[in-house]
Amino acid sequence: MKIVKTVNEVREQVKQWKKQGYTIGFVPTMGYLHEGHQSLMEAARKENDKVVVSIFVNPMQFGPTEDLAQYPRDLERDSALCESIGVDLIFHPEPEEMYAPDFCSFVDMTGLTEGLCGKTRPIHFRGVCTVVSKLFHIVTPDRAYFGQKDGQQLAVIRRMVRDLNMDITIVGCPIIREADGLAKSSRNTYLSQEERTAALILSKTIALGKEMAKTQKDAATVIAAMKANIETEPLAKIDYVEAVDAFSMQPIDTFDRPAMIAMAVYIGKTRLIDNTLIED
Ligand code: PAF
Repeated sequence: MKIVKTVNEVREQVKQWKKQGYTIGFVPTMGYLHEGHQSLMEAARKENDKVVVSIFVNPMQFGPTEDLAQYPRDLERDSALCESIGVDLIFHPEPEEMYAPDFCSFVDMTGLTEGLCGKTRPIHFRGVCTVVSKLFHIVTPDRAYFGQKDGQQLAVIRRMVRDLNMDITIVGCPIIREADGLAKSSRNTYLSQEERTAALILSKTIALGKEMAKTQKDAATVIAAMKANIETEPLAKIDYVEAVDAFSMQPIDTFDRPAMIAMAVYIGKTRLIDNTLIED
């Protein structure tokens, strides 16, 4: 496994692989890899000849008051995990390699990016779309792997690829959870022991919503019950709990089409997200 820091080194390697007819699977990450990332890398390993993982904490997707500086990093541990799964190449650029001082070109999206996480994090998806399209141009993968854990991000990337005619198959992979239900996230490391226990309110409430939506088709009723459940946890503060169309990410009144119930909840200072898909 190679670890490279420059765009040119990735391009050189990919060029050689393509000459030999190899397919390329790509897993973009911000590092501090956990079993969620592992499942993406394993899927990529199964379905492609070569696997590239990027590890880049993308400054452009963090707002000025967000956790860019504290975001956990551990390249040594990440590399060992990648190696054990059979990743072929890690791309680990410095911010200066990705963004020239006079960088001024962005990939932006309306609609899908405005609700849910986009409300509290107004510049987030512009940063995600910009860096992911840059990474797609650098790696030129056949397939790219994203977790359903970031359900809105997955919908946004699928739309960007469709709208901008990118010749890449986007593979969505299921949420990976701890044994007690908490969705795996690099940000779980911010939680104290007491907060870690309190954080279970997210997955428990997601399970409640999913169960209710089997029989209750009125979205507002389901969302109200979910909010009331979260409010029983003193350490939890709701950012949003919403039911949206699974493709457009627009709020829905009735569960009469493929939908997603999504939430962001602060546990202490840590903002956690979770979601579930609802088939109609
Ligand atoms: O999901 C993430 O870790 C990031 O948003 C991504 C897709 C790697 C872009 O920086």
